[in-house]
Amino acid sequence: CVSRCATRSVAELLQWRPAEKADDVTVNGFVRSVRSMKAHRFISLGDGSSLAPLQALVPADDAKDLAVGAAVRLSGSWVSSPGAAQSHELHVSRVEVLGPSDAKTFPIQKKYHTPEYLRTMPHLRARTPVNAVLLRLRSDVIASLTQFFAGRSFTQTHPPIITSSDCEGAGEVFTVTPANDAPAPGSSSENNSQELFFRSKKYLTVSTQLHLEALAQAVGNVWTLSPVFRAEKSDTSRHLSEFYMLEAEMSFVDDLGPVMDLAEDMLRSVSSSLIESSTVRDLLFRSRTSGSDLAPADEVRRRWEGLMQRDWPRIKYSDAVTLLQQKSSLFEHKPTWGAGLQSEHEKYLAEYVGGGEKPVFVTNYPRDIKAFYMRETLPASPDVPGPTVDCFDLLVPEFCEIAGGSMREHRLDPLLDAMKRQGILKPPSEGVSDGPSSGGLDWYVDLRRWGSPPHGGFGVGFDRLLSYLAGVQTVRDMVTFPRWHGRCDC
Ligand code: 4AD
Ligand code: MG
Repeated sequence: CVSRCATRSVAELLQWRPAEKADDVTVNGFVRSVRSMKAHRFISLGDGSSLAPLQALVPADDAKDLAVGAAVRLSGSWVSSPGAAQSHELHVSRVEVLGPSDAKTFPIQKKYHTPEYLRTMPHLRARTPVNAVLLRLRSDVIASLTQFFAGRSFTQTHPPIITSSDCEGAGEVFTVTPANDAPAPGSSSENNSQELFFRSKKYLTVSTQLHLEALAQAVGNVWTLSPVFRAEKSDTSRHLSEFYMLEAEMSFVDDLGPVMDLAEDMLRSVSSSLIESSTVRDLLFRSRTSGSDLAPADEVRRRWEGLMQRDWPRIKYSDAVTLLQQKSSLFEHKPTWGAGLQSEHEKYLAEYVGGGEKPVFVTNYPRDIKAFYMRETLPASPDVPGPTVDCFDLLVPEFCEIAGGSMREHRLDPLLDAMKRQGILKPPSEGVSDGPSSGGLDWYVDLRRWGSPPHGGFGVGFDRLLSYLAGVQTVRDMVTFPRWHGRCDC
């Protein structure tokens, strides 16, 4: 494009090192800083396409309105630069200020701003160079995933956001209510289904898995990248109320092996296709120079290389608990069979089973701490205290769980039994087996009546994955407009 297009991005220009001066060059961008010399102003210009800015030299008389934050179009000659910081610079002959800025009040200056400060202005935060790199990383990873799944003939789908059920059964759903339809809280009509917009309570989805299963039963292997919502009051660096989940569902698979293989292949493909990209180069450069908000460059590189390795360890939950119990004194929470793994346990496993490099699959958790839809492991192992399910959590060093998956119970009766056991399907004395007493899941049960093959899949916390890849310490700084308990600013 450099030789043909009239307007070039900053990234394109920085790559372009002609031996001769090139005239008629135009670039759009935002003024990052202005340095005044006697007759000239040095303008540092960014447009989000590269971490490094472009240097433009503007005659002082033309530079009056070039304030930090302004949106400008600069035209001139691209010439080799005497400065050490750049090979070329733009000698500007024409300045257009397309969106002026009041530099005195613009909150983002060319200096270090803390993540806490930037988090108070999500509408402006993406203008900082490192946040622009994070946006590009997200976009590049989506493109790479799309290519990966297309190469495997998976169909990309759009499952719904508004649902009748709570897929994970954890009660962490947001209810959907149109503002002008909501009966007054406590009024006699509050529970009157006639007055509800959809006739019964609806929720924002916590996972699109159940709908994906229906689609997988129609077209085979499917995937989606969808927003999901969780009303969790967790105030941690890993939890958001709104995040993206990458979910894949495979039809006609008999056991968990191929499902884990898919997750592993997918993450290996993304990391190896992007590790040499300009975005990752910027990311590594940034973490080398900043030293503060992002993990150091060698740590970030190690993460990418870890994902590129083959044969990630797979360890059964029961063996993991035995291993943790041998190191029991290291932990605040004592590891016990039948309880969920705490993040200190996950960290230990990722460190010692994965050698601190490769991600680790922990499989076959106890049935009673997992969701109703997971298939029970058969035959049950005599060495294990209770029933387990064919499921996995994928743990990465430092960060813990980034994905969870399972085989789904595809047979009708065992599924109904599991739903009864978890109180989703009430016994006849407490209600009927359809309608609200089946947790809005009649349709899901129905799938088992007509051609339900063995199937399984997984969900990756997409923003957690990106935080891990970028070395961002909290997922709140990976998402442009983060929402978590107590915060939803714009
Ligand atoms: O482990 P989870 O709850 O699994 C499911 O929802 C399955 N239905 C997925 C499937 O099999 N299709 O969530 C999947 C991943 C977690 O491993 C975690 O990385 C991420 O979603 N996650 C969150 N990310 C950010 N904020 C939260 N509050 C999250 N809760 C889960
Ligand atoms: Mg999970």
